[in-house]
Amino acid sequence: MRAAVYDTTGPSQVLRITEVERPEPGPGQVRVRVELSGVNPTDWKTRAGVTARPIDGFAIPNQDGSGVIDAVGPGVDPSRIGERVWVWFAAVGQRWGTAAEWTVVPAGRAVPLPEGASFELGASLGVPALTAHRCLFADGPIDGQTVLVAGGAGAVGHFAIELAKRAGARVVTTVSSPEKADLARAAGADLVVNYRSEDPVARIREFTPAVDRVVEVALGANLALDLEVAAPLAPIVCYAASGDDPVVPVRAMMSKNLLLRFVILYGVPEPDLARAVSEVGAALAEGRLSELPNRRYALADTAAAHDAVEHGFVGKVLVEPA
Ligand SMILES: NC(=O)c1ccc[n+]([C@@H]2O[C@H](COP(=O)([O-])OP(=O)(O)OC[C@H]3O[C@@H](n4cnc5c(N)ncnc54)[C@H](OP(=O)(O)O)[C@@H]3O)[C@@H](O)[C@H]2O)c1
Repeated sequence: MRAAVYDTTGPSQVLRITEVERPEPGPGQVRVRVELSGVNPTDWKTRAGVTARPIDGFAIPNQDGSGVIDAVGPGVDPSRIGERVWVWFAAVGQRWGTAAEWTVVPAGRAVPLPEGASFELGASLGVPALTAHRCLFADGPIDGQTVLVAGGAGAVGHFAIELAKRAGARVVTTVSSPEKADLARAAGADLVVNYRSEDPVARIREFTPAVDRVVEVALGANLALDLEVAAPLAPIVCYAASGDDPVVPVRAMMSKNLLLRFVILYGVPEPDLARAVSEVGAALAEGRLSELPNRRYALADTAAAHDAVEHGFVGKVLVEPA
């Protein structure tokens, strides 16, 4: 099969397109004919060696994807052959990322994609939607609460808005441009604040006395804002290590009994991951999740796709293996 592979970490030029043997599904695995491969920041960071993982001879990048099951291994119901699926964690613990014509994954990492849901949406879910779920629900239900989602036009932010609305929360979000404001409104945010041109604390306080939970993409830049608007006992849940690290104002945080939580999807306990997969699947089946605008790249241009994500493309970057 044709695949994008790398043998050593480094800049996107380490990616090359080559023929590798098509993988066969082992016990408990399914093989997926990849329709679209979704690119996330984690994919270029792993390839670049920023967050390196061991390479087993070669590595095919990209955790997320969508496609159709065309073979199953021992122990998997053969009736799954022909099923449309979205794939998550394809490159965790193995070389078979989704930037290839086929991938093999444990059966639970290929989740049914309802007829009404596009392959584009399916390839966009894995890392962003599961991370959004973890950030929103690690500290209990949010029904009736107000959640602040920093960066609501990002991939994680987008699904955080949609999953929070589905769970019965009001959502406040911050963005940096009118284009991103439109995306956040389309996702269902109740209040969208441009943090560059407006005063976020004032705008949020006009809308609500305080927020009950924060999903944070830029803790260094936003901790002061979060602290201003957080209700007592609120969790501030940080999932990104971009920008400068914050100085933690201990007394101010202690005075409000705030909780500072960090999330890395790769370390989320299995039962919580399973619950996230199940609830993202349910939201998908209910038509509650939508796709961001996307830009598609041919497999031969996987390096350019990685570069686009690294340089902050607004929306979803997808690779077409076929
Ligand atoms: N911990 C995990 O398991 C995990 C999982 C997924 C992603 N991540 C990490 O999370 C980050 C975002 O991932 P993504 O896929 O959502 O990327 P993305 O689609 O590029 O979105 C990032 C968003 O963050 C916004 N942002 C940046 N600085 C901001 C600030 N000071 N205030 C408010 N918003 C701000 C950006 O918009 P503006 O710059 O226009 O504000 C952009 O919309 C990446 O660093 C990624 O590696 C971590």
